Parts: sequence; C-alpha cells; structure tokens
Amino acid sequence: MSQFLHQRPLHNPLSDPDPLSPRSSANSQRHIPIFFNRTALLALLSLLLILGVFFPWARTSSVFSPSQSSSSSSLSKWRRYTLPEAASFVAKNGTIIVCAVSHPYLPFLNNWLISISRQKHQDKVLVIAEDYATLYKVNERWPGHAVLVPPAPDSQTAHKFGSQGFFNFTSRRPRHLLQILELGYNVMYNDVDMVWLADPFAYLEGSHDVYFMDDMAPIKPLDHSHDLPPPGKKGRTYICSCMIFLRPTDGAKLVMKKWIEELQAQPWSKAKKANDQPAFNWALMKTAGQVDLYLLPQAAFPTGGLYFKNKTWVEETKGKHVIIHNNYILGFEKKIKRFRDYGLWLVDDHANESPLGKL
Ligand SMILES: *[C@@H]1O[C@H](CO)[C@@H](O)[C@H](O)[C@H]1NC(C)=O
Ligand SMILES: *[C@@H]1O[C@H](CO)[C@@H](O)[C@H](O)[C@H]1NC(C)=O
Ligand SMILES: *[C@@H]1O[C@H](CO)[C@@H](O)[C@H](O)[C@H]1NC(C)=O
Repeated sequence: MSQFLHQRPLHNPLSDPDPLSPRSSANSQRHIPIFFNRTALLALLSLLLILGVFFPWARTSSVFSPSQSSSSSSLSKWRRYTLPEAASFVAKNGTIIVCAVSHPYLPFLNNWLISISRQKHQDKVLVIAEDYATLYKVNERWPGHAVLVPPAPDSQTAHKFGSQGFFNFTSRRPRHLLQILELGYNVMYNDVDMVWLADPFAYLEGSHDVYFMDDMAPIKPLDHSHDLPPPGKKGRTYICSCMIFLRPTDGAKLVMKKWIEELQAQPWSKAKKANDQPAFNWALMKTAGQVDLYLLPQAAFPTGGLYFKNKTWVEETKGKHVIIHNNYILGFEKKIKRFRDYGLWLVDDHANESPLGKL
C-alpha cells in the first residue's frame, strides 16, 4: 500500500477505470488538479483505516468461529451458499432429508442426527438454518450441510410455540420444500424433536406423491388404511406436518402450493395461536382428489400423544416403531426430560456418533 503511494503519487486509482491505458495517464498528467491528490490520499487513508479497524473488529466480534484465521471469508462463503448448491451437494440417489432449525434447537438437531447416523442416512441431511449462528455452526463442523434461505426470520421470537414469530418461522417450510421439489429431488422433512429407531425409507412403499403420519392418538388396527383419514372435530384431519416425504411430482408440488395458499388465507392471529399444521391439513383435504396420498402405518410412526402415553400399546407394538416424535408436550426442558426418561436423549453419551460432534 505505501509502496504504491510512493510510486504513483499523482494518480488516483479509485477514480480511474483504466489506469494502465496511455490515454488516461496522459489525461491525468494534463488535467488533474491538485485536489485529486488529496482525494486519493484521503481514499487511501480511509482504506487503511478500514483494513486496520474493521478487520480486527470483524474477527474478534465473530462469535461463530473465532478459532479460524480465515473465518470472515468462510463465513461470507456460507452466506452466499444457495439452496440449489446445497441440495446438489447433499443429495444421494436423488433424495434429500431436511429439517429447519434455529439456534436454540441445536441440541435437538444433534440428537436427531445421531439417530439418523445409526441408520446410515446422515450424508443426505440438509439443515435449513433459520439464523446465521446455526448456518455457521453447522457448516463449521460439517461443511456444506447447512444453508440459509434469506431473509432469516427474527430468531428471538421464532421458537416460542404459538407466537407470531413461530408462525412466521414455520410458514417458510412449504416454500423450502416446494423449491427442493422444483429442483427435482425427493425430499423427506422432519422436525428435529424426532428420533429414528429404524430406517423410514423402507416404509415409503409404492410411488405415491406425498407420505405422512397421523397426529391422532386413538389406536388403529395394525392393518389400517393408508388413505387420508376422515376429518375430525374441527372439520379437518390431524395429519402431522412434522414428518413428510414428497416425490418431485406435480401432485406433491400442488400440495405445497395449496399449503402456502392456505397459510396466506388464514394468517396468524393472537386469538387462534396458529401453527402451520392446520393449513397443511386443509391443503391435503382440498387436493386429495388430485393427489396420490399415503398415510404411514401408526405402529411405525406413532404420534407422541400415543407413544409417550400408553405403555400397554408401546409394549404390544414393540419392535415396530420407526420414528418417535416428542410432541404433545410443551417446553424445551420438558421435552429433554421426556427423551431422557425414555432413553431417547442420545447427545449426553453418544455425541461422537453425530457428524457435528459434541456441541
Ligand atoms: C435409490 O432410489 C431407488 C428409487 O427410489 C430405490 O429403489 C433404491 O433402493 C435407492 N438406492 C439406494 C442405494 O438408496
Ligand atoms: C411476521 O411476519 C409478518 C409479515 O411478514 C411481519 O410483519 C411480522 O413483523 C413478523 N413477526 C415476527 C414476530 O417475526
Ligand atoms: C392403550 O393401549 C391398549 C392396548 O393397545 C388399549 O387397549 C387401550 O385402550 C389404550 N388406552 C388408551 C387410554 O387409549
């Protein structure tokens, strides 16, 4: 920088688009008045100030990866990482497993990942980060496996169930899924308060458009129908939006588009404390005639309202459970305690099995 200053004292590199052409250097010698020197000096001084002041500042304030000397460049790399890039990086056999996670849920993400690693499906997991801290953290430990689809939702409010922030956060889900379908991939979505006990892909029989599980607790016969169940008390079905498998078909895309439409038609209100699940159910019901839907078996994919509340049933269906969902309970600590009580909180003793390691 200083060498440059000494060699070209009369030249303003910042205002000259083509400093090496003979014509412009002739111009600069004939016409450039004295204040251009001052402008150049000021500009260079500002540059030095920026380099001297902002770079150290950016380094020390970066809470995400202070250990890496190239932190700012790798951070901006992940900032620019797009969903199409990430999808093509993680997809195996045309299939991706996604979840959407904000920073407070990282322990649940890790727990879920351990259970997926045990079924050897972790390579195709893509974490849709809902804040930059999550994006950087996951990619620092496991490069390429997290992407952020801007704009990031407000992270302070996004994780309080029933809040408007939570609704905003969940309503991004069908958009992400639709985008992945448009790119031509099969996609499995999971909430991260789930644990895999077996390989769910073995249960995705046939070539239906959309696969899902019921969130209703009443016990069904083992050979129950795979059709969309009849509507319940609220005039709609109670399918869980926590576990969805979609093939990149027109039918699956139609359901995602309808889901987005339903979310817009029934926006969040304080009174209703909505989440995105009712809209998903309306979308399924309204497209059922045009789309090939498939209800997964209850014994393999039970709601938390059944698995955690009926020991007799759990005993009767032992060995048949595939994914356990820790729902029908509110609050972080309660969920963790319940997972612990049932031997499903794997992060304490088995963090080394997660591609993220111990967080
Ligand atoms: C790849 O996908 C096809 C079709 O979905 C499936 O039949 C096959 O088992 C998959 N192969 C692997 C290695 O996952
Ligand atoms: C939710 O989204 C709406 C509309 O985009 C926005 O006006 C509102 O500020 C958001 N609220 C929160 C808490 O994120
Ligand atoms: C619990 O499961 C058993 C065995 O399937 C069933 O007979 C019983 O009705 C269930 N209890 C409730 C409260 O659903």
